Amino acid sequence: MNSTAGQVEYGADTPKMESQTQTGELGAYTTFRTEDAGEQSLALLTSVKNLFVRQLPYMPREYITRLVFDRNHHSVVCVKNRVQVVAGITMRVFLETGLGEIAFCAVDANEQVRGYGTRIMNHAKDYARSIGLHFFLTYADNQAIEYFRKQGFSDVITVPKERWKDRIKDYRGSTPMEFIIRPNTPYLNLSDVISTQKLKLMEKAQQFTNGANFYSTPKRGQIWKEMIL
Ligand code: COA
Repeated sequence: MNSTAGQVEYGADTPKMESQTQTGELGAYTTFRTEDAGEQSLALLTSVKNLFVRQLPYMPREYITRLVFDRNHHSVVCVKNRVQVVAGITMRVFLETGLGEIAFCAVDANEQVRGYGTRIMNHAKDYARSIGLHFFLTYADNQAIEYFRKQGFSDVITVPKERWKDRIKDYRGSTPMEFIIRPNTPYLNLSDVISTQKLKLMEKAQQFTNGANFYSTPKRGQIWKEMIL
């Protein structure tokens, strides 16, 4: 992890992304705080602000600008080809209660449903943990509830109300959702960890099959191909 004034650069989160980063196809993820933002960070903040204005048309532009450049808000952005901000999350940080309130989360319209939404959220979780946050709360738009659910958020709020009441903004037509940030979950390389666990499980299962053939489930593409033929 490299660090420059007001900016922390994270490495890629999967081997595939790492190779994309090396070939310049996909730039590194950048996380930064506004309080000591340098020129580059301010340029990134302006880009992510413009992204939110485009993707969240029902939010007043002035409101987005005020929050993105506010000192209590931290932003995580995903930069493609080292210039293009394709995804961003801005959170309000309450260090005293360990709460992060996700104020804005968006992916560029041309880049949606390609996994950037998941990647940026994983980086936001990792970053939040690195500064001492224990949970996220957000008021999710009804059309984004499923996205948040897939990122592990729940509409059952377990964190005691006194830790967040009167702190976070609610919006009409939205649902409060919570995510507990786990101390040891490797949010940036979950897919690697799951592949390794799967491999270990297969090895273990093979030991108990007494040398008999062991079949793994066919890949989705294989089933599809067989159905067509
Ligand atoms: N409704 C239902 N499911 C959704 C969804 C939506 N609006 N957006 C994404 N998903 C699902 C995807 O199908 C995918 O599911 P899978 O893992 O089973 O394949 C999963 O969520 C992750 O998708 P991903 O490609 O990582 O997300 P994305 O890059 O498309 O980004 C948003 C998702 C919501 C951030 C993006 O659509 C966006 O910017 N929307 C406009 C702004 C917005 O509504 N922001 C949220 C409120 S602040």
